[in-house]
Amino acid sequence: MLLKEKVCVIVGAGSLRSIGYATAELFAEHGAKIVVVDVMMDDGLLASIQSSIQAHVSKPISVQGVRCDISKPEACENMVREVLAVQGTIDCLVNSAGIVRSQPILEISEKELDLMFDINLKGAFYLCQSVLKVFAEKKSGSIVNIASLAAQRGGGLVGGSHYAASKGGMLSLTKSIAREFGPLGIRANAICPAMIDTPMLDGLSEDRLKGIIEAIPLKRTGTTREMAGACLFLASELSGFVTGATIDVNGGTHIH
Ligand SMILES: NC(=O)c1ccc[n+]([C@@H]2O[C@H](COP(=O)([O-])OP(=O)(O)OC[C@H]3O[C@@H](n4cnc5c(N)ncnc54)[C@H](O)[C@@H]3O)[C@@H](O)[C@H]2O)c1
Repeated sequence: MLLKEKVCVIVGAGSLRSIGYATAELFAEHGAKIVVVDVMMDDGLLASIQSSIQAHVSKPISVQGVRCDISKPEACENMVREVLAVQGTIDCLVNSAGIVRSQPILEISEKELDLMFDINLKGAFYLCQSVLKVFAEKKSGSIVNIASLAAQRGGGLVGGSHYAASKGGMLSLTKSIAREFGPLGIRANAICPAMIDTPMLDGLSEDRLKGIIEAIPLKRTGTTREMAGACLFLASELSGFVTGATIDVNGGTHIH
């Protein structure tokens, strides 16, 4: 039990196939109190998340669900307020919400660029700001931001330059939080995944997917459970002296 009684807010858990959901499931297995947040959250989705998690945990659990569009600062503030009203505190934030689009640079309109940055970068910023107010008061807390391999290699396998830039900004944001809030005992780390089997890969043709997998040293896609494992490490005291770090979960696709 690495997260016993810890209140963990997992943002971007809007599908049972997402990295966010798998993280919620693994954290629950480790004794965490789970809050799932997504722009898609509704009663039906929460019920399916709750029953799916319950199937993995022996004692009865109650999952809190909050609908939140992270691109709106007031929505992030309200989400944190709702969580505090029910749970009393927050110990960990995993931000796994995001969108991906793939277009050549010269075809990206201002509207598309704004949407990408509003969700992936500004959304992460607002979420962290809202949660850091709670963490600063209690002088503890851990933030795990899910960035992307695209931030490291210059776009990529799935995302275009606007996606890569948004995720690069997320890495810089994470390092800045680690530096500014480290003295308060607050940690912030990022994960750069690639080719994890989620709805984000659904747009790839079979041939393209095969070609990409051939170039991955481990010769397969990753599972959401494997991403959840990296999140568990960063959320828990197993990583107590790790902050400002970026962990690769990419099957060896990008070896520095
Ligand atoms: N799957 C991969 O191979 C891969 C690779 C690199 C990075 N990532 C990153 O991992 C994270 C999780 O992605 P995933 O693969 O689980 O895909 P996913 O599409 O299943 O999960 C993303 C979730 O974010 C939610 N979301 C989108 N906009 C939102 C908003 N404005 N407010 C709140 N929630 C919003 C979606 O509803 C969805 O549930 C994303 O940030 C993605 O960029 C994934």
